[in-house]
Amino acid sequence: MFIYNAWYVAAFAADIEAGKTLGRKYLNKAVVLFRTESGEIAALEDRCSHRAMPLSSGHVDGDVIRCCYHGVEFDGKGTCTRIPNQARIPAAANVRHYPVVEKDHLIWIWMGEPALADPSIIVDSPEHNDPAWTWRPYNFPVKANWQLIIDNIMDLTHVPYIHARTIGGNPEQHYNADTKVEFDGRKVTLLRKMPNSIPPKSYIDAGGFKGRVDRWQEVRFEPGIGMTCRVNAGGCDAGTGAYEGKRDNGFMLANNHFITPETETTSHYLWTICTTAPKESGVPDVLFDQFFDTITEDEVTLEAQQRRIDDEPERAFVGTPAMARSTRRGGCSARCRKRRMAARSLPEPPCLAYISNIAACPVRCAMLYRHHEDARTGGSDRGSSGDNPRLSARRIDPGARAAAQDGCRLWGGACPGDPVCASAPA
Ligand code: FES
Ligand SMILES: [Fe+2]
Repeated sequence: MFIYNAWYVAAFAADIEAGKTLGRKYLNKAVVLFRTESGEIAALEDRCSHRAMPLSSGHVDGDVIRCCYHGVEFDGKGTCTRIPNQARIPAAANVRHYPVVEKDHLIWIWMGEPALADPSIIVDSPEHNDPAWTWRPYNFPVKANWQLIIDNIMDLTHVPYIHARTIGGNPEQHYNADTKVEFDGRKVTLLRKMPNSIPPKSYIDAGGFKGRVDRWQEVRFEPGIGMTCRVNAGGCDAGTGAYEGKRDNGFMLANNHFITPETETTSHYLWTICTTAPKESGVPDVLFDQFFDTITEDEVTLEAQQRRIDDEPERAFVGTPAMARSTRRGGCSARCRKRRMAARSLPEPPCLAYISNIAACPVRCAMLYRHHEDARTGGSDRGSSGDNPRLSARRIDPGARAAAQDGCRLWGGACPGDPVCASAPA
C-alpha cells in the first residue's frame, strides 16, 4: 500500500548536480530528476515515450533532457520538444512529470494527483538553515517496507535493546517512561519523559553528564504531509527543569527522518542529525558518528524483519497488550478512534485485512485514515470530519467494524481503558 497524495523527500538538494541526472524509484515508479539550466529541479517518469529507454541514461542540455537512444528531447514539464528529423510532435510523445519543490536543502516530490500538490503544507526543517545548528545528511537505502521504518521510530521501546551501545539506556526506564500520544488533525505526536535516568553512552559523550538526567523524546509524525518523523530528544541534569522548558543547559538534538517508499519492500531512508553543540567543541562529530552507528543498527533490524515477513507474508504480528499499556497509555483511545474512522471509510477487503494486522496502531491508523479519506474525497483535507466516535461507529459497515474489532483483539481485546471500544454500539 502506498499513499500517493503526500509529499516525499526524493533526495537531498546537493545530490542533484547541474548537468547530471538522478534516476530513482519512488512508490514503484521510476523517476528521473535533473536541474534545468536555470537551476530548477525537474522530475519526469524515467521512461522515454519512444522505446522505453530510461531517461536517466540520457543527457541534460540546457533546459531539456535528451534520451540517449534516438535523441528525443523533453523539457522539465515532460513536454516532448524535439524528435530528430520530424517536424510534428504528437502529444502522446510527452512523458509524465511530477511536482517537485526544493526546500531546506531537500527535494520534495508529489507522486499523486498534481492538482492536489500544495507546497505550503510541506513540513519545515528549520535546523537545516539555522547557523545555530550543525547538521549532517545521510541516505540509507533500506531493504524494508516503509511502514516498518515508521513503526520503528514511533515505538521507541526498541531503543535500550537495539541501541544499547549508543543512545540506549535502562530498559526499565524506557518501558516506564511517561508516554502520551496526541492527535492534531493529520499530526501524531509521541511525547516521552524519562526523569532521573541513567544517561546512555551518547549522552555522556556529547553532554558530559556526571549523574542522572531528565531525558525526553518527542516525535512528530505527519502522514498527510509526507512520511516525515521529526525527533527532538535530549537530557538535562535531573531536577533542573527540563520538563518545564529549561533545557538550555542540557544536551539537545534533532533527528529528522524522511521515509520514501521505493517498492513494497525497499525504502529510501533519508535522515539528518542536527545539534546546537558548537562545532569547535567536537561534540557534533561525536554525535554524528554515534548516530550513524545507531541508524545502521536500525537498518540491520528492519532488513532482518523484512526477510522474515517475506518468508511468510500472510502472517500477522501478535500484539503485546502489556507492552502497549506501558508504552502508549495515552495513545490507546486515540488509536481506537482512528481505527474506527479508518474502518468507517473502508470498503475494500485488502484494507480490512491490513487493519487486522496493525501493530503500531497510532501511526498506521492515522495513515489509513488519510489514505481512505483521500480515496473518498479525491484528496481534499476533511480535517476532523467523523471525529465523533459514537456517530462514526453507527455508520460503520458491520463487516468493517468486525474487522476493526479483530484488530483490537490482536492487542488482547479492547484497548486498555479505551472509552470508544467500551461505548461503541454493537
Ligand atoms: S527510446 Fe528514447 S529516443 Fe528512442
Ligand atoms: Fe532505533
